[in-house]
Amino acid sequence: MEETIEIRARTGGQPLERIVYPADRIAARVAEMGREIAAAYPADEELLVIGLLKGSFIFVADLVRETPRPLKVDFLVAASYGAGTTSSGTVRLAYDPHADLSDHHVLLVEDIIDSGTTIERLVPMLRARGPKSLEMCALLHKHLAPPLTLEPRWVGFDAPPDFLVGYGLDHGEDFRSLPFIAALAGPQ
Ligand code: IMP
Ligand code: MG
Repeated sequence: MEETIEIRARTGGQPLERIVYPADRIAARVAEMGREIAAAYPADEELLVIGLLKGSFIFVADLVRETPRPLKVDFLVAASYGAGTTSSGTVRLAYDPHADLSDHHVLLVEDIIDSGTTIERLVPMLRARGPKSLEMCALLHKHLAPPLTLEPRWVGFDAPPDFLVGYGLDHGEDFRSLPFIAALAGPQ
């Protein structure tokens, strides 16, 4: 009951259908992935974590703090959604921080893989920079896409087909600040 009131305060009264991943479950899984990522790269080689904005901002912040090895962090903006819940297919590289990635292992961090469009467009752009290696870590994977050029090496959770919000994920820029991940109620 108290929890419901607290959630209403955060969503401005907009109803959520159900909580799919509570905060403690996310934290435990992120910690596991961080340890696996740290163990996967040679200790003396450069690791660059690139988060896809905006959806991955909270995930990246938590993941890098659970990854006990030296690393650098950067971000790319790839906008594929407007206010709706259907991918428009357009991917825009708004901020492009590293011209030369040849000295770095690159770990692309995505909030959620849905149609796979965003990833399919970004991977060739990043590969063209010649990173030492290119891997992906996705918090959520809906497994709706046909096999991707680059399947994520790390996946937090195999997600249901619902439209999910919270922990960085938005609907029309709302709900990003929820500490858990929920399915959105009603017609979108
Ligand atoms: P894709 O290109 O269709 O794979 O979609 C990737 C991007 O769409 C993600 O990085 C999210 O920003 C957004 N997206 C896809 N599914 C959802 C969802 O269920 N909730 C919120 N955003 C989503
Ligand atoms: Mg996104």
